[in-house]
Amino acid sequence: MTPAAHPLPPAHPVLDVPPVVEESLDDAERAALIARIRHLLKAQDAVLVAHYYTSADLQRLAEETGGCVSDSLEMARFGHASKAKTLIVAGVRFMGETAKILNPEKRVLMPDLEAECSLDLSCPAEEFIPFCDAHPERTVVVYANTSAAVKARADWVVTSSIAVRVVQHLKDRGEKIIWAPDRYLGDYVQRTTGADMILWQGACVVHEKFKADAIRQLKREHPEAGILVHPESPPEVIAMADVVGSTTQLIRAVQELPNQSFIVATDIGIFHKMHQVAPHKLLLEAPTGGKGATCVSCAHCPWMAMNGLRKLAHVLETGDNEIHVAEDIRVKAVRSINRMLEFAGQNSIPVAGMSGD
Ligand code: 13P
Ligand code: SF4
Repeated sequence: MTPAAHPLPPAHPVLDVPPVVEESLDDAERAALIARIRHLLKAQDAVLVAHYYTSADLQRLAEETGGCVSDSLEMARFGHASKAKTLIVAGVRFMGETAKILNPEKRVLMPDLEAECSLDLSCPAEEFIPFCDAHPERTVVVYANTSAAVKARADWVVTSSIAVRVVQHLKDRGEKIIWAPDRYLGDYVQRTTGADMILWQGACVVHEKFKADAIRQLKREHPEAGILVHPESPPEVIAMADVVGSTTQLIRAVQELPNQSFIVATDIGIFHKMHQVAPHKLLLEAPTGGKGATCVSCAHCPWMAMNGLRKLAHVLETGDNEIHVAEDIRVKAVRSINRMLEFAGQNSIPVAGMSGD
């Protein structure tokens, strides 16, 4: 049964998107920085927790020094389980905040505090909270890509690897939902589960630019290629996917599916890990160009690109860019994040499970 349509909350386009600026280093500087960071991590009892969209340098360093490279759910889990006194979160601000919310006793540093996320920016707490208050009968489910204050208002926090399962569970309990902020992921979850959801109208400036027509053309040139899509993409792109999933789930698909080539609709930072797990497979960037192209960041998140070795060495040396979350907000936000972590544990949901479409 299709649930009734609801009036939509106001659209929230994020207009102020910075350009993608990659760190540029020569070999000598790179080697010197890596040596310095290795030493500082050890001396300060710190671990590096990095997202798959960060640079290959950061991903390599995280893995070689006992840290982790993963999707946002596993970043949260790893930081929580780690015994290190300091977590260095190479990703975007909501990931640093989630680490701090779960680990108030740890110091959490980020290479660049300006590393935002268009989804987070599209959902200001001062607008979202009154919107939720106007619908007291609904369960509030927010994507991890939100501020601590928005998480504090939510009943549940979910990441892309667990969103469908949580919403299905809530629907089975007869609950109606407010979903924020990503309208495309929300739409995908709504269509998959049939739940009654009001969708906040945010979007990811990177994923919303993938173009179905151009992907179709590329597929004609590579008919054998599997199509892998992150669910922050538009519905017509999701409709073409062989696998829809979180970053970890898409990497798993490259490793496990028999295809020898893939069209990948997510940030190109993920190619580093995909090449590592399947070195002989051909990976093709899903086009953001072609007819009607408007992309500003073209399959690379400008905020993820703000992370780099120079900034990482700097924060380790100075202690700059520490993440703080007000305690009254933290105690509320931790409840909704823990609900997700407990649900994943109780239902034996593998962090790297795959969802075929
Ligand atoms: P994942 O949880 O799939 O890593 O996604 C985080 C994100 O920001 C994708 O754009
Ligand atoms: Fe946010 Fe999109 Fe960047 Fe992910 S890729 S951090 S959703 S802006």
